[in-house]
Amino acid sequence: MSRLGLIGGTGLDDWGRASCFHTVETPYGPPSARLAAYEIAGCQVFFLPRHGEQHQIPPHAVNYRANIDAFRQLGVEGIIAVNAVGGIAKHCYPGRIVLPDQLIDYSWGRAHSFSMAATDALQHIEFGEPFSAHLRQGLLAAARHAGLDVHDGGCIAVSQGPRLETAAEIARFRQDGCDLVGMTTMPEAALAREAELDYASLCVSANWAAGLAEPVSMQAIESTLAESMLEVRELLRVFFKVCTDVC
Ligand code: HPA
Repeated sequence: MSRLGLIGGTGLDDWGRASCFHTVETPYGPPSARLAAYEIAGCQVFFLPRHGEQHQIPPHAVNYRANIDAFRQLGVEGIIAVNAVGGIAKHCYPGRIVLPDQLIDYSWGRAHSFSMAATDALQHIEFGEPFSAHLRQGLLAAARHAGLDVHDGGCIAVSQGPRLETAAEIARFRQDGCDLVGMTTMPEAALAREAELDYASLCVSANWAAGLAEPVSMQAIESTLAESMLEVRELLRVFFKVCTDVC
C-alpha cells in the first residue's frame, strides 16, 4: 500500500514537519483541518487531526463525512485511526495500546452515513467485522518488529460525549461485552467502509472508565497519553516503513 490516511485523536495532534498541506473541499462541508502530507519510506501518508488544529472540535461535532470524503478524494487505500479511550477490561489499563476488533455504537444524532437523504445512493454495507483484518495484521506485525506491547482484539463502546460516562453506563457497557470506551470510532469506521477504505483503530487507554477507579486529573491523563503516544509514533513509523507490504 502506498497511500495511507492517518487520523490523529487526543494526544496525536501533530505529526511533525509536513512536505505539503491539502485543503480539501467536500460536498459535506470542510474536514476538521487541512491534511498534512508526509513521505515515509516510499509510503505517502496524509495526516488529519480529528479535533482540528486547535483541538477545538468535540467528538459529537466532528464532520466525519467530510473527513472520510477528504481521504477518499486524496486516493488513500486505508486509514489508521488513533483513539484515546477509557479502559473497562482489566487488560486495558491506562497506558495500554489496544487494537480492537469489534465495536458497539451507543452514539446518536451524528451524520452516520453517506446515504442520509432519500435521493442519495443507498448502501447496506457489510459491517460484521468493522475493522480491516489487513491493516490490523500489519499493525500487529509492526508492534512485534518494534518490540512494543499491543493487545490484539477487544470491543470498543462508542459513547456520545463530550461528557465522560456514568458508572452505571460503564457497568452496562461491560455487561454488553465492551473492553474499552471512546467517543469517535463511530461513525468514522462505518463511513470508511461505505467509502471502500480499509480502516483500523489504534486505541490508547488514557484512564480507567467511570466507576472503576478514583477519578484522575486531566494532568495525569495527559501524561499517560503523552508517554503512550511516543510508542504509537514508533509503532506507526515501523508500520509505514516495514509492514505496509502486508496490506
Ligand atoms: N470515556 C470515553 N472516552 C474517553 C475516555 C473515557 O473514559 N477516556 C478517554 N477517552
